[in-house]
Amino acid sequence: MNQIAFPARTLWAFVLAAALAACTAEKNPNAPPAPPATPDAGTPPAQPPPDPNKTAADNTFDQGKQIFRFDTFGDEQFWTNAIHLEQAIGGCPTCGIPTGVTPRTALAVGLKVDIDALPASVVAGVQNGSISLDDPKTTIALIGLNAVLGVKGTPNAAGTALTSLGITCAFCHSTVDNAGAAVAAGIGHRLDGWPNRDLQVGNIVNLSPDLTAVAKVLGVDAGDPTTPTVRAVLKGWAPGMFDAELFLDGKAANPNVPGTPLGSAATLIPAAFGLRGVNLHTYTGWGSITQWNAFVAVVEMHGVGNYTDLRLDDATRFPVAARADNHFGHLTPAPGQQDQVSSKLGPLEFYQLAIDAPAAPAGSFDVAASARGQALFNNAGAGGAKCATCHVPPLFTDAGWNMHTATELGIDDFQASRTPLSLSGPGGTPAPVYRTTPLRGLTAKDRFVTNPASKGRYYHDGRFATLDEVVAHYNTQMSLGLSLGDQSDIVQYLKSL
Ligand code: HEC
Ligand code: HEC
Repeated sequence: MNQIAFPARTLWAFVLAAALAACTAEKNPNAPPAPPATPDAGTPPAQPPPDPNKTAADNTFDQGKQIFRFDTFGDEQFWTNAIHLEQAIGGCPTCGIPTGVTPRTALAVGLKVDIDALPASVVAGVQNGSISLDDPKTTIALIGLNAVLGVKGTPNAAGTALTSLGITCAFCHSTVDNAGAAVAAGIGHRLDGWPNRDLQVGNIVNLSPDLTAVAKVLGVDAGDPTTPTVRAVLKGWAPGMFDAELFLDGKAANPNVPGTPLGSAATLIPAAFGLRGVNLHTYTGWGSITQWNAFVAVVEMHGVGNYTDLRLDDATRFPVAARADNHFGHLTPAPGQQDQVSSKLGPLEFYQLAIDAPAAPAGSFDVAASARGQALFNNAGAGGAKCATCHVPPLFTDAGWNMHTATELGIDDFQASRTPLSLSGPGGTPAPVYRTTPLRGLTAKDRFVTNPASKGRYYHDGRFATLDEVVAHYNTQMSLGLSLGDQSDIVQYLKSL
């Protein structure tokens, strides 16, 4: 570790020296004197003091960014103490895991490496082969440098194993721009808020040597330490997908859509950018950003914090969450533990709201076709595509209660039924609802995807492989009567957002 960290300090010393030299140069005594700022205006007008709220906003943004990228909320109590993922990733010869995961394998299961966290000597070493991407110890070193997105771990003194491991929000909600692709795909500059559609969450968790804690929560595989049910479910999650509701209702597959990847009930990891002005969050409108953040940090990542949600006491809908030994709607830190989540919710939400959706790169769509598509998208009259009746620009979700019934969308209500929200439908029967996806940055979701099989995929479970399929679905479902040309113009507009 020291060998790797030391050149970084040398580099900093060099940068500092250069910066100092630049400062000195500015004070060159031979330079002509600067003209007076206000030659004849007498006393310059007093600068208004900085708005303290703006200063606080800046600080909150910085805090939120750190939390989003690096905070585990104490979830090592699960990832290390309960399922021992640190042994699977770092190796543990004394517990039957001779070696850990090589960087090449880590990249192949979708983990991403932040090139800006790597000292120049490491980049050079990887390039010239003196640091091997086939050596598990390199993975340990990379984790120690905080260079693996969303993975926080502590290497032992010899750099031969990890003593702890936890995950952060960046695990699923960040990717990289592949700027280091010459070395290996999956290495580049961080892109916060971009969903990692390459990430094989299920396969990574399945590396864990002991999943009995998960089996216990779900109430399956009683007494079987190999937990075959849990492992089969995890293996069923396609890349870029995760099932946030599994730990509430124990439903592992959507019976209505056998065509979804392996019949799994997982959803695509959504973007965490472009969310300003969006009312309800998640595909099924669980709540505000901060409700969902608290839920994820405590219930999904297993951080140490408080989470209150009386809706999870509904034992019919949420048999796992409501069970007395889980009681997920009433979580508090164990005696002696400090809440590591609540104080972070403010900055975390603030930062997420600040992340803009990325603009579509020039040349990635046909400008003229997109303009025609825009007109159709916004036209709610005859011949129009009526999209903006729900995807209201510039939010591209409804301005208001942004939910619509599965019937309106013409899709099954399996996922919508896994949440507390329903409208009262005809005769009082529940009408489950989906949240109108904000469409900005739509194509950014797979811009830097390295696995071709992970490209595209739209709607919560990725049932539509391409945008053309999405538009064709609306055309049929809403009897829009759009020509094929109209449909392709709308696709170009979607690509421009
Ligand atoms: C294991 C992967 C994973 C991790 C880790 C994770 N998320 Fe998510 N996130 C998801 C998935 C999947 C969804 C969609 C859930 C749904 O709709 O049921 C989601 C949804 C969201 C949404 C809603 C986005 C929208 O379109 O409204 C936000 C916001 C969010 N996550 C923030 C976070 C934050 C903050 C953290 C860290 C505390 C975090 N997530 C950790 C996978 C993850
Ligand atoms: C009745 C409201 C409504 C109308 C009208 C509507 N949408 Fe949607 N749209 C939604 C909802 C709700 C979702 C989320 C569906 C899901 O994830 O299962 C969605 C999802 C999408 C997605 C997928 C986004 C993603 O990242 O997966 C696209 C693309 C889209 N809509 C485009 C359009 C276009 C184009 C039109 C017009 C032809 C349109 N929508 C009309 C409500 C609507």
